[in-house]
Order: sequence, then structure tokens, then C-alpha cells
Amino acid sequence: MAQRIDIKGQRQDAITAACSVLAAKRPVAMPTETVYGLAADATDPAAITNIYTTKGRPRFNPLICHMADITMAERYAVFDPLSRKLASAFWPGPLTLVLPLKEDSGIHPLATAGLDTVGLRVPKGFAGELIRAYGRPLAAPSANTSGKISPTTADHVEADLGDKIELILDGGMASVGVESTIIKVEGETIRLLRPGGLAVDEIERLTGISVTRNAGASATIEAPGMLASHYAPESDIRLDAREIGTQEALIDFGQSEIKNRDSALVVLNLSPSGNLAEAAANLFSMMKQADASKARGIAVAPIPDHGLGEAINDRLRRAAAPR
Ligand code: TXA
Ligand code: MG
Repeated sequence: MAQRIDIKGQRQDAITAACSVLAAKRPVAMPTETVYGLAADATDPAAITNIYTTKGRPRFNPLICHMADITMAERYAVFDPLSRKLASAFWPGPLTLVLPLKEDSGIHPLATAGLDTVGLRVPKGFAGELIRAYGRPLAAPSANTSGKISPTTADHVEADLGDKIELILDGGMASVGVESTIIKVEGETIRLLRPGGLAVDEIERLTGISVTRNAGASATIEAPGMLASHYAPESDIRLDAREIGTQEALIDFGQSEIKNRDSALVVLNLSPSGNLAEAAANLFSMMKQADASKARGIAVAPIPDHGLGEAINDRLRRAAAPR
């Protein structure tokens, strides 16, 4: 069973223990502001292999490499002016930039699945401190079995991977709650590869450029991890629900008008006040709670598609996709 260290009470112990597990080429579950990551040394093939094996993740799906700051990131990838502007504005934070890999960067091809680009992110808070202490970039996918819902608490990580890893750093509930927004700059074009914890409007407001969204199939090729069916709960999920069916659980949002609300087996509300940031933070743990409730299905109230709603609806659609 994994050892658990609370980073609030024992920050220095957590960093020391994590550095020694990382140096032994084994993965560590670490909190980030988006979701918990399963981190390992991005320059070491054995360490990266251990991530893929622990998650049961297909090796064609590249990992995001996490950096302590922009200076460190510039050692590994080539920044165009627009990407640098985005990094300066939004790092540390829930934004991943896909950039050309520098020659001899030292990042192992297993981390990038052999691509000539790399996804880079500077996480906020403890994860950044850990990377600075360790001194090398950390490759980190979400700390869950491949295909399952990403963890937003240390309990989620322990329930899923507790038997397979040796160290879980507990940073409480992730503040953002959905994975980072992934973008790729091509000349004057900004392409959205995955909606996430940084709303697209914020990118557009900063740059004055309207972000290009990927359509269906091409998105799958660009961000190979974005398979249609993902975040798979056990129960069936039904989106844009206006009424409750027999034995269903309800994931509600704001003050919605849902018929037969009282007949729901459980009612959870992502944000009673209709706040999308709060809804994103609650999304994955409420999906897990609803899934554990033994309901016959999960009905989800309509959620606005603007701001962080875009990422919330993206994850819900993947959870509802046929498999
Ligand atoms: O918030 C997050 O991004 C979390 C935390 C731990 O940082 N990480 C995360 O990693 O969500 P993961 O592995 O679950 O998702 C990474 C996504 C995948 O869809 C992958 O295909 C894409 O990033 N990706 C990574 N490198 C890429 C590249 N060079 N080009 C295109 N897509 C890339
Ligand atoms: Mg993931």
C-alpha cells in the first residue's frame, strides 16, 4: 500500500521522500491545481515506462512534461513569440503548450511517444516546488488507470492506484478540477487541442486571436490521448437531462428546472449558485459519487458551454460516449 504524506503539514518530508522515489525511477502521485499527476523523471526511459505500466496507458499517447518555470521550459523546447506571451501570462497555471522539442533536449522519446513536439506545463504550487527541488522535468499524466476519471483528491488516487505505487502526496482537493487546456501555436493561429482549466476566452482576450477548435477526427490525431470514450464511469450517463428517470442519480447545476427531481436516488449539485469554476472543481468527484450510488444511470442537468463550461461539457460527453 502506498505511503501517504500530507504536503501541508510535512512539506519538506514530502519533497525529500518524493525526490528519492523519483531518483529510483519510480512514479510518485503528486497534487497539481488541475488534477493529481503520476510523476516520473522525463529524461529516464525506465521511469517513464513505469508510468505507462502503472496506468495501463497505450504508449502512442505522449505525456505532458512539467517544468518549474519558463526558464527551465526554454531549455527543452523552442518558444515562438506568441507561445512565450501565453506562458508569461498563464504560467504557473492550467495551460499546456505543444512546442517543437529542442534537439538533444534530454527529454526521452518515450515521454513524447517519438513526436518532434512536446507538451509543456508549469503547474502552480507544490508540484512546481517539487520539480525545482528534483532539478529535472517530470512527465506526468493524470494519476488514474487509463480510461478512468482523473483524480482530484488523494483518496481517489489511493482507491485506484494505491496497490501499484509507493508514494502519494496529499495536497487536498485540486482547486481547478479539470485537466489543463492544451493549445498549439502555428504561425498566427492558436489551435485548441483540448479544452481544460483555462477558459478559451482568456486566451482570446490576451492575444486578440480567435482560437481554432479542432473538429472530431483530426483532434484524435493531434492529441492522441483524446479518445472519444474516456472518463468512463460504470453507470450510463445522460446529458442535458430535463427530467429524472427511474432509479437515476442527478448531477445538477445551478437552479435548474428538472421534472421529478424528488424521485432521484441521489442529488448532487456541481454549483448551486451556477458558478462554472466551482462546477469544474466538483465535477470528477461528483461523477465518482454518483457512480458509486448504485443508481441505474446518471442524469446530468444542462451546463452552459461558455468559459469553463466548454471543458466540463467535453469531459461529460466523453463519459457519456458509447464504449
Ligand atoms: O492538467 C493536466 O494536464 C494533467 C496534470 C497532471 O498536469 N495531466 C494530464 O495528462 O491531463 P494526460 O496524460 O492525462 O493528458 C495529456 C494529453 C494527452 O491527450 C496527450 O495526447 C496530449 O496531452 N499530448 C501530450 N504531448 C503532446 C504532443 N506533443 N502533441 C499533442 N498532444 C500531446
Ligand atoms: Mg488523463
